[in-house]
Amino acid sequence: MSGIVNTIIASYQETSRTPPEIDCCLNYLPNNDFNMTFKWATSFKENLKMDVKGRCFVSGVPGSFYSRLFPSKSLHFVHSACSIHWLSKVPEGLEDNKKNVYIRNPCPLGSKNASDPLNRESCHYWSLLTDSLLDLVSEGIVQESDVDSFNLPFYDADSEEDDDDDETCRLNFGEMMASRKRSITEPMLVAHFGDAIIDRLFEKYAHNAAKYYIAARSCNKMTVNFVVSLSRK
Ligand SMILES: C[S@@+](CC[C@H](N)C(=O)[O-])C[C@H]1O[C@@H](n2cnc3c(N)ncnc32)[C@H](O)[C@@H]1O
Repeated sequence: MSGIVNTIIASYQETSRTPPEIDCCLNYLPNNDFNMTFKWATSFKENLKMDVKGRCFVSGVPGSFYSRLFPSKSLHFVHSACSIHWLSKVPEGLEDNKKNVYIRNPCPLGSKNASDPLNRESCHYWSLLTDSLLDLVSEGIVQESDVDSFNLPFYDADSEEDDDDDETCRLNFGEMMASRKRSITEPMLVAHFGDAIIDRLFEKYAHNAAKYYIAARSCNKMTVNFVVSLSRK
């Protein structure tokens, strides 16, 4: 966000114009802990290249981006990072995608194959989540039918497993991955399974990620990001 604000300010300075007042509205789902967001807003202001005290404001906007969040024609610039693949509803054709919580080979939506560049990013972060949920099924904590009907909006190809490396690195890696994946998926998991399982689930996830340390770590080698820029006519 500081990058965006700095760019706007710089573009005004280049043409000797006075930078405008800037209102940064941060949207997230209502269950988000906005306290954390607002604490972070202080460091955001520290990263700004010019003193915008009294000229740059931050506010939180709770709600889904699938509903109207702002009055019409009230925004000049909208930035959404890694979010809009969270669809408003589960697409049709996923009924047979049982025992997987993500889109796995063969892709039930029919577009992925072995030559697909995304295949090289064959991390199995989401396989680990499937495995961890199935562990809870075998412990009687989660219903199998609930896992069958749960689908995350991620594509993830299969990958080879490996089981080598130092134990401490493995455990640290497992915990780090569990914490990252929890921050991304917790609202969806809670909505589907309830919050009672979450701590146990991510303990399982950390354990499973540590077990498949090498294969999981290898996915850091390549990430594909699509950047789309739209201008209103
Ligand atoms: C992968 S995270 C990216 C977060 C941040 N933009 C970033 O780049 O670090 C996507 C976030 O979008 C949130 N999200 C999903 N659906 C949403 C919706 N309909 N409205 C608002 N936020 C949503 C999810 O809870 C998740 O935390």
